[in-house]
Amino acid sequence: MTGNNLAIALVHHPVYNKHHEVVTSALTNLDQHDIARSSKTFGLDRFYIVTPSEEQRKLAERISGHWQHGWGADYNPDRKQALDIVRVTPSIATAVEDFQSGFSETVKLVVTGAATRPGSIALAAFRTLLQDPEQPYLLLLGTGWGLTDECFASADITLKPIAGNGMYNHLSVRSAAAIMLDRIKGIEREDT
Ligand SMILES: C[S@@+](CC[C@H](N)C(=O)[O-])C[C@H]1O[C@@H](n2cnc3c(N)ncnc32)[C@H](O)[C@@H]1O
Repeated sequence: MTGNNLAIALVHHPVYNKHHEVVTSALTNLDQHDIARSSKTFGLDRFYIVTPSEEQRKLAERISGHWQHGWGADYNPDRKQALDIVRVTPSIATAVEDFQSGFSETVKLVVTGAATRPGSIALAAFRTLLQDPEQPYLLLLGTGWGLTDECFASADITLKPIAGNGMYNHLSVRSAAAIMLDRIKGIEREDT
């Protein structure tokens, strides 16, 4: 069986803090909602929230659960649909393991950051790679001060950063996710 070959993982560990120490960052309610909504809009069916903190995983489940069941689901069914694709996992490895289950080809890890790194490929090139439905890709997004060097070293693909009009390009992870998804999965329609 082959499913949707792109999933996003929002990584809360391993990431850097301001002092370049490897830490576990705190879950942000807005990230969970907004990235779930962007992912659903662009046709993804899995958005992994990665944190080794059991307490933070419970919080993520509670946030999704509020909109999936009972009052929240009745009040805003559109939000329920988006949060239905959230899966909460303790590590990148467990997210890969879960995503792998629908595919025979090995999941490839794709990493992102605001800095330019050697060997990175353009979003347009990644869009072309996604045309092969048999090959699954897990797109890692950082929190805190970004994904660690180890994440970049172990990834299969590094994406070129989104550039703005000047030198500054430090986007919130929510904005970066939405821009990337539009470029790699979006379609231009005459009525929009
Ligand atoms: C470093 S975290 C910052 C998290 C922060 N707490 C926030 O405001 O969302 C932002 C993440 O978004 C992505 N990102 C930010 N700016 C980017 C850019 N210009 N190009 C590509 N990805 C970017 C990367 O995945 C990066 O790890």
